[in-house]
Amino acid sequence: MDRHLSLSQAARLIGVKRTDIQKKIQENKLKVMEGTVVLSDLKIAFPDAVYEDNTMVEKMEKFMKDAVHKMAQSEREGAHIDSLSRRLVKISKELADERTRAEHMEELIDSMKQKFLELKIHPEQDNRFNEIKSWFNTAVQSLEEEKLTTPVESLKNQIKQFMLPHVRLLPSRHDYISDKSETLLESALRSGLAVDYGCNNGKCGKCKAKLLSGKVEQTVHQDYVFSESDKSQGYILTCSNTAITDITLETEEAVSSDDIPLQTVIAKVKKTQQINDDVMILTLKTPRSQRLRFLAGQHIELTLDIKEGNQKPIIAEYSIASCPCEPANLEFHIPIRADEPFANAVRDNLKSSDSFTLKGPHGSFVLNEDSPNSLIFVAWDTGFAPIKSLIEHAMSLEQAENIHLYWMTTKVENHYLDNLCRSWNDALDNFTYTRIMCEAKTDVVADSLMKHLHDEHSHLLNFDLYIAAPGHLNHLLKPLLISHGIKSQNMHFESIFHGDEIQD
Ligand code: FES
Repeated sequence: MDRHLSLSQAARLIGVKRTDIQKKIQENKLKVMEGTVVLSDLKIAFPDAVYEDNTMVEKMEKFMKDAVHKMAQSEREGAHIDSLSRRLVKISKELADERTRAEHMEELIDSMKQKFLELKIHPEQDNRFNEIKSWFNTAVQSLEEEKLTTPVESLKNQIKQFMLPHVRLLPSRHDYISDKSETLLESALRSGLAVDYGCNNGKCGKCKAKLLSGKVEQTVHQDYVFSESDKSQGYILTCSNTAITDITLETEEAVSSDDIPLQTVIAKVKKTQQINDDVMILTLKTPRSQRLRFLAGQHIELTLDIKEGNQKPIIAEYSIASCPCEPANLEFHIPIRADEPFANAVRDNLKSSDSFTLKGPHGSFVLNEDSPNSLIFVAWDTGFAPIKSLIEHAMSLEQAENIHLYWMTTKVENHYLDNLCRSWNDALDNFTYTRIMCEAKTDVVADSLMKHLHDEHSHLLNFDLYIAAPGHLNHLLKPLLISHGIKSQNMHFESIFHGDEIQD
């Protein structure tokens, strides 16, 4: 039996990048038919990779033979393959319910933390209270650290990934794996695809898509009522269904910031983290029924409603530092400056019960997903926020052959997520991280960056470049970069609002 595999499945199976497979196809060393390759052709095109991972391939083949044998046996016994799928869907529903319960528990824990902080305690009860508080904090911390993956789980995940239904979207021809414990919408977002959606709750109908082939099963209640015409054409809600076979869906995806509507979303404080004297990381949680739809690299207006006294709401605009593949949690990097009331309020007055009103998103500093080029990212200081979002998005799409990040600041401690960048550098063979420190003067910063680019990239012809830095530095860099070979349409600039100033 020869198995047809999507490019993502093939890449996962033999442990290479998707772009390696695309390269073989372009070189006519691997045949592709309607976006799939055949396992035997894959072994010929990647003899070494298959050899190295031979046990895995053999396991897969044996697993599949056994599965086919069991299916045939099971049919002889009168069972139908659909019943297996239905059992899987039932388990998935239970998992989805558990996930919702876990989200509620998380909110409950957050509220309890807040209650502890607000509790007025009699001095005689201090010791007992502190004991309970410390026990509670340790218990919460160990819960958060319990996300370990053992090698056995990792193998199970690989097999699971391989066998999970595969979703193809038309007309984009994007594809992704649908985890049966998630809805089609959740899996698409986690894979970095900007599909349309609204309530995430089966009510608004914005996530509707036409099922062109394959089977789905509803796992979440939906109130939206389809017209007879929609029903006859096979429309489904992606936020309420999961795939039980490989499927093809017709649906629109956002390709530019113009395709993302302006939204107003109320978000709660999930976490604040003072990274150093100059930067705080604020994480906000959006409700399940009101996720913020945005593209990586965009920014948003935040209004903080202070609950105490007669203080007026404080408004500021920040780039979103997290990836759209994590729509529940939004991350912001807040530079602390004496003259910025928003930053000071976040540092000094914020309570976990406070909420923010988010309006947006804005900005067109977004990834050109159609480009086959490698990527260079340059961040000045907290310009790292939109760059982080873009990098995480590019990683989830697995589209770029190489990614190089230059993070520039005046001093070593201003690389406030240095460990994260190093871990990308260590874990990904196509990722390079260069840390640059220099004086905060426009010409010095520009010279320093250009020197690195000259030394590390002989030309920039096949690169897309994304720079988040103060406007006057961007202005100076443009002609220098063009003289180093980059096409102007491949340069993307974001003028950062906050962060370390650079002198002219
Ligand atoms: S997103 Fe509203 S119905 Fe699916």
